[in-house]
Amino acid sequence: MNHIHLHFKSLDSTNDFLLNLIKEEKVEEGLWVTCSHQTRGRGQRSKEWIGEPDLNFYASLYLEPHFLKIDDQYQLNIAICLAVRSFIQEHVSAKVMIKWPNDILIDRKKLCGILIENAIQSGKFESSVVGIGINVNQRSFSERGITSIALESENDIPIDSVLSGLRNYVESYYQKLKIGEDLKAEYLRHLFGYRESIRIRFKEEDMQGQITDIDLSGCMLFRAEGVEKRFCSGEISFLL
Ligand code: BTN
Repeated sequence: MNHIHLHFKSLDSTNDFLLNLIKEEKVEEGLWVTCSHQTRGRGQRSKEWIGEPDLNFYASLYLEPHFLKIDDQYQLNIAICLAVRSFIQEHVSAKVMIKWPNDILIDRKKLCGILIENAIQSGKFESSVVGIGINVNQRSFSERGITSIALESENDIPIDSVLSGLRNYVESYYQKLKIGEDLKAEYLRHLFGYRESIRIRFKEEDMQGQITDIDLSGCMLFRAEGVEKRFCSGEISFLL
């Protein structure tokens, strides 16, 4: 994959920048866009992604996963989560876990969010903008339940070293996906709540149970009180 990288001091959102760029010009697969400060970072379900300038990693990667069928879109999610998880695990000793569908946690605290925006055209998987936000050197957060690599390792790491390390993992997992390797067993091994008791909230109801599987469309199978239920992204929240 080409190593093309655009860095900006400040952008509203690296995902929005890249989504606009691909509308205007031909973009090479493998382009990374990063910035030191994001003024209107977006998270899942129209939430904001806020972080201090210069202390964190904000990036978007352009991919053309034409080899994936639309029904297999979740496979890309799996590969990216595993890549980001492995990169973070290299820097901390505590166990780094994936929270379904695509957050990265340490000790039930979130330290990375992933926002993948896919373009489908004429029934085909056209392109994908993979947004990754990692809390790196920020040490204080206004919300509870958030952490960073520096808080977990007691060491700062240079922000400009993150891309080269992360890119190696992303390229390696993307390659595995391309050659058809099944990454699900590895994903489940690192999945928070897989075959272990957790609490989730569905509508107004709290449930105690275990994740038993993630199906082909990326929905979660959850067993509570002997009954298996299926939840898709956005339907439940975790009680951490
Ligand atoms: C989430 O956890 O809700 C996903 C957060 C994704 C944040 C990253 S930061 C870089 C990229 N640009 C954005 O606007 N969002 C993603």
